[in-house]
Amino acid sequence: MRRLPIAIVAGHVGLTCAGSCAGASSDAPSDTSTYASSDTSAYAADASTLASSGAPPEGPTYYRDIAPILAARCTECHRSGGIAPFAISTYEEAAPFAALIARTAVERSMPPFNLDNGGGCNTYVGAPWLSEADIATLATWAQAGAPAGEITGETLESPTAWRLDRVDLTISMPAPYAPTQPIIDDYRCFIVEPDLPQDAFVTAFEVRLGRPDVVHHLTLYALDSAEDEQAAADLDAAEEGPGYTCFGDTIVPSRWLVGSGPSDRGGDLPAGTGLRIGAGRKAVLQMHYNWQNGTAPDRTVIDLKLEPVVEHEAVIARIADTKLELPPGLPAVTESNEMTMDADYTVWGVWPHMHNLGKQLRVTANHGASESCLAQVNRYQFHWQRFAFYEQPLHVLAGDTLQITCTYDTTSRDTTTRWGFGTDDEMCIGFFYITRNG
Ligand code: HEC
Repeated sequence: MRRLPIAIVAGHVGLTCAGSCAGASSDAPSDTSTYASSDTSAYAADASTLASSGAPPEGPTYYRDIAPILAARCTECHRSGGIAPFAISTYEEAAPFAALIARTAVERSMPPFNLDNGGGCNTYVGAPWLSEADIATLATWAQAGAPAGEITGETLESPTAWRLDRVDLTISMPAPYAPTQPIIDDYRCFIVEPDLPQDAFVTAFEVRLGRPDVVHHLTLYALDSAEDEQAAADLDAAEEGPGYTCFGDTIVPSRWLVGSGPSDRGGDLPAGTGLRIGAGRKAVLQMHYNWQNGTAPDRTVIDLKLEPVVEHEAVIARIADTKLELPPGLPAVTESNEMTMDADYTVWGVWPHMHNLGKQLRVTANHGASESCLAQVNRYQFHWQRFAFYEQPLHVLAGDTLQITCTYDTTSRDTTTRWGFGTDDEMCIGFFYITRNG
């Protein structure tokens, strides 16, 4: 076992995306009949198992039982004009999809959330997670042929999207940028100038994408020295147009401030914590564009809420297995790595990260004989990455051993897969939002 100090996440290890990292919406088949005509027998076994365990005697109906679940958990995306490929906000829209709705609910692939929120390994603030009862209701309803029931006439609204309650600083790309052909995955870094009169801490952020159809994800990194700022300025000057090319990497030393995956428009960081932006310092905004979705010029903006002081300064740290080597042709290849903590920390949140072959991920902390679970991913979906904050923050102590285990399906490969930023490379990372104690 290697003994490592906890690594603060810098630009060269930040969130990256393999080359096939299409935008969530681009991935969605445009022809909804693919969904509607799907074979319903595939889920029937699951549905009947669930039905026997909790179906109300008269059976669930759309208006009474289903519409409230879909409104609370689904229609913010599955409505006309939403990011999902089809709407399910009326009976006429939802009924043809009943079987698929039930299947994704049973599999827990919808609503999209990578972490297990079942309670066996933490629960997360605002987790989009169906209860077992809701899953049983959806499955029973689908199996019964999606009965409408009595029309209630009630209009059910989806919960309103989270918005920042105060904007202290807006960080904008210096100029519009049109993703260049013929790079499908265009990573572009823009130098931005918060230019704060004194140090301040980011406590919440909201991302406003210029072109949601072409942006896949973004990461904002702090530059902590004049030297690093100069290095970034040199890269910028060496290339035409705004910004510089930065595949998977800001290239210069930098520190993660804000990360936002597809469909993640921001949120509050845990109360009492924040990420520092140094007085007068610049930052780098790394945008990942997906040229397949178009080349319209984008000018994305991030609104930040700042505090002059916070109780606990946070950083993003990671545990990773950078030595992974995955033999091809196997349905489940497991890799793991360990590290020993150099000090006591409070762990507030986690962002699991693998590429397209990733299936499961687990991070545990071992204190002597006892083990605590930091993260459990049962069914990894590459497009749905984001930070999730624990309802109960965790503590790890100096000397504790952290272990990460990632499982991959390599049946689609015929050569060994290794660590890297590229399309065919893999990663195994748990990013953690931590504050140091003492
Ligand atoms: C955050 C946005 C979002 C939410 C919330 C959401 N979906 Fe989806 N859903 C999508 C997108 C986008 C797709 C297209 C596939 C993808 O990107 O994963 C999708 C795909 C689907 C599919 C097709 C999947 C397949 O395997 O073919 C079904 C069925 C579905 N969603 C049902 C639901 C149900 C039921 C809920 C609520 C319990 C829900 N979704 C909540 C965004 C969302």
